[in-house]
Amino acid sequence: MESLVQSTTRTRPDTDDPSAPALIRNGGDRPEWLVQATKPVRYEVRMVDGLLDPAHPDLALAGVTERTGNRRFIVLDDHVERHYGDRLRTYLDAHGLEPTICVLAAEERTKTMDSVSHVVRALDAFGISRRHDPIIAVGGGVLLDIVGFAASLYRRSTPYVRVPTTLIGIVDAGVGVKTGVNFGSHKNRLGTYFAPALALLDRDFLATLDERHISNGLAEILKIALVKDMRLFSLLERHGTTLVSSRMQARGADGEVVQEVLERAIHGMLEELQPNLWENDLQRLVDYGHTFSPTIEMRALPDLLHGEAVGIDMALTTAIARRRGLVGAGEQRRIGGVMRRLRLPQYHPVCEVHSLAEALEDTVRHRDGLQRLPLPVGIGSARFVNDVVVDEIEQALATLAAGGLDAA
Ligand SMILES: NC(=O)c1ccc[n+]([C@@H]2O[C@H](COP(=O)([O-])OP(=O)(O)OC[C@H]3O[C@@H](n4cnc5c(N)ncnc54)[C@H](O)[C@@H]3O)[C@@H](O)[C@H]2O)c1
Repeated sequence: MESLVQSTTRTRPDTDDPSAPALIRNGGDRPEWLVQATKPVRYEVRMVDGLLDPAHPDLALAGVTERTGNRRFIVLDDHVERHYGDRLRTYLDAHGLEPTICVLAAEERTKTMDSVSHVVRALDAFGISRRHDPIIAVGGGVLLDIVGFAASLYRRSTPYVRVPTTLIGIVDAGVGVKTGVNFGSHKNRLGTYFAPALALLDRDFLATLDERHISNGLAEILKIALVKDMRLFSLLERHGTTLVSSRMQARGADGEVVQEVLERAIHGMLEELQPNLWENDLQRLVDYGHTFSPTIEMRALPDLLHGEAVGIDMALTTAIARRRGLVGAGEQRRIGGVMRRLRLPQYHPVCEVHSLAEALEDTVRHRDGLQRLPLPVGIGSARFVNDVVVDEIEQALATLAAGGLDAA
């Protein structure tokens, strides 16, 4: 029998968007179809002050649609519950909202599928509307990653809002589209790319964070400074000590410094993320400090925090860059000095050469066969290399073990 369609046909989609691709059908008796679609991404990252002040509507309106009612499903980090639970309930009450609050003990060792299942069970019990009840995640990077992952899986995608309460959350985990959990001994081995509807960033939350976790977040800020923002580096150099001790709570003139540091870090991060949200390009500047650190962090657990492991990776790769002549002796000392001011470690005993060589191999698999390793070039710029060898790692480790970048 002769086919009705002998050649190519194109069916225009029923939409006003002129750039929407057509459905293409090729062939006669044995047709084949080419299905194409583009997925627009649009979400807002908003810096706010006084998020839990009942006078401010941002949180009450977060993620709502014209059909959202008064119910809210909130996943709350257990430490945040202790510090802010009462204020949060007062806020929701003042806005006439009826919350269901799922409290989650979120830490690196419980960043697992079990925690995702816990959130999913709570979502089922709540009976969440597929499109109109936003899931609101309030907590650190661990909680945001778990809840984002659960939201992306639940009915294949349910909208969610991120409210980061740690510095890493505010400058990194809260602003991008990645979600995930650890699996076996591998960090973030399972995960998705799933944009939130909105991210609300309020530095007031940092008032109750211990200083070590401020330093932890400053590591991700230092990363952006080293690879692309000399001015941000100078701010950290001048104000690093007080940024830690004040927990970034200063107001007035000192508050302007905090605001500039946060804005530059977030803007720099988003500039890198936006053109490559799905990581089609595996050569990413924001991977600076993330070549050896996933292995260092997991091997040292619970000894090292995420940012501390990133700090050690940055120290190691700075020392490699120094040996290659990409970073001068004075620049290496300045970088080491800033790490000290930010109270970031430059070395940990799990850093022995064989495990770092293995870490590099694992990263090469992750980056599709090439190292794609960003190395600093001076301060505020970087270059990708694919040829780091074990000897260089060993020599760089010797620098760190002997006292660090600023002692060399
Ligand atoms: N998705 C991403 O793009 C991305 C980016 C960077 C980091 N991350 C992930 O983020 C995680 C690290 O995040 P983190 O550093 O926020 O750790 P975290 O979520 O474990 O929080 C640190 C600790 O602070 C507590 N806490 C949170 N907010 C608080 C507050 N306001 N006051 C007092 N205590 C508070 C938490 O309960 C926890 O004990 C890692 O798992 C990392 O992989 C993800």
